[in-house]
Amino acid sequence: MAEFQAPVGTRDVLPPESTRWERLTALFATRVGRAGYGLVVSPVFEDMGVFERVGESTDVVRKEMYDFEDKGGRHLALRPEGTASVVRAWVQHRPTLPFKAWYAAPSFRYERPQAGRYRQHHQLGVEALGTEDPDLDVEVIALAWGLYGDVGLAQVRLLLNSLGDAKCRPAYLDALRAFLLEHREELCDEHKARIEENPLRVLDCKRASCVRVTETAPRMVDHLCEECAVHFERVKAGLEELGISFEIAPRLVRGLDYYNRTTFEFQAPALESAQNGIGGGGRYDGLTEQLGGPPTPGIGFGIGIERVLLACDAEGVFPAAPAAVDVFVVDVTGSAALKVVHHLREAGVRADQAFGGRSMKAQFKLADRSGAQLAVVVGPDELERGIATVQSLQSNDKEEVKLEAVVDHVRRKLGEK
Ligand code: HAM
Repeated sequence: MAEFQAPVGTRDVLPPESTRWERLTALFATRVGRAGYGLVVSPVFEDMGVFERVGESTDVVRKEMYDFEDKGGRHLALRPEGTASVVRAWVQHRPTLPFKAWYAAPSFRYERPQAGRYRQHHQLGVEALGTEDPDLDVEVIALAWGLYGDVGLAQVRLLLNSLGDAKCRPAYLDALRAFLLEHREELCDEHKARIEENPLRVLDCKRASCVRVTETAPRMVDHLCEECAVHFERVKAGLEELGISFEIAPRLVRGLDYYNRTTFEFQAPALESAQNGIGGGGRYDGLTEQLGGPPTPGIGFGIGIERVLLACDAEGVFPAAPAAVDVFVVDVTGSAALKVVHHLREAGVRADQAFGGRSMKAQFKLADRSGAQLAVVVGPDELERGIATVQSLQSNDKEEVKLEAVVDHVRRKLGEK
């Protein structure tokens, strides 16, 4: 075993597996780019206060932060998610509204590692600030839904809930708190102690005892004020108009504190239930204020790259495509390949060569392994005559071509395929 390993809960992603990451990220960038979202790149660490504000009563912030003091005595933390950073950046720079951003962000949570749960995971996400319009909620959900379709996932479930707003939630929380206090002894030990502080967290508990109790708990969807109810109705109607099927999940509260109104989660039934969340998000209309900015509504989602790829494995879709070239230059003169390969690449052809003065036989072996369709062979005799042999690696087709015409000839041949 190597002396050093990637830290517990982290993974190296090597080719050809990494080709899926490239393609997934490109599909996402294209899809959200078409909807007017621009890339935001923000620091991987922030002032610890940024995250404390967004999740004081959550496991993500209480138990799982990678926080540290830097050499200048600042209390910093690696980001556990992307929303807080994007909203902090908006508050700092105030770009014009509506502000539509996307990101591809490594995120860090000190969790108990297992399949699909890592200490460094990667999210593709969007955040859209500046409007309460429920059609934006539908747009955002449709973007994630579309990406799952792009990779060929056919079994994704969309769970939908509304968490109300500052007007209707307090009365609901009182009703929920009263219900939970009545059933306190039946709850898990952790949540017995947390009813007062944030009763919604109990709804998010996956332990059987809490699940049993909360099955009959009051539901936020039954306590929505008029505005929130109308908003939620429009989100549901919009999803129906777009043909996106969903299930109402009255206990879906999500693992971060900033949500209000629309919340949603995408699940892949093919994965273990503890790690089957392949994306999730919702509205956070009070977050800009919590981070010191003017009141500005917002909504977004994060999609876990690792989880999406696990779901793809489970459904047998979106396989890795090994890196391949179109042309392999076999050179036994020891000098011709460098130039020929360079000119091919400059002309947009994927080309490679062997290094280290290998025998012709060894070079042909590498050519076969490279996935190339064509070999360009240059020997001393050919070099003297100013030609190369262009041959198919699949059949016995061979042609002698002038060295200066190799690029055009190869492009023509590849175009014929
Ligand atoms: P989240 O549900 O905590 O939401 O994470 C989003 C997604 O990241 C999850 O659905 C899952 O696919 C993936 N994920 C989370 N933790 C892990 C982990 N330890 N290992 C592997 N994958 C993981 C958020 O982070 C919000 N910022 C989403 C959002 C954006 N809400 C509004 N805007």
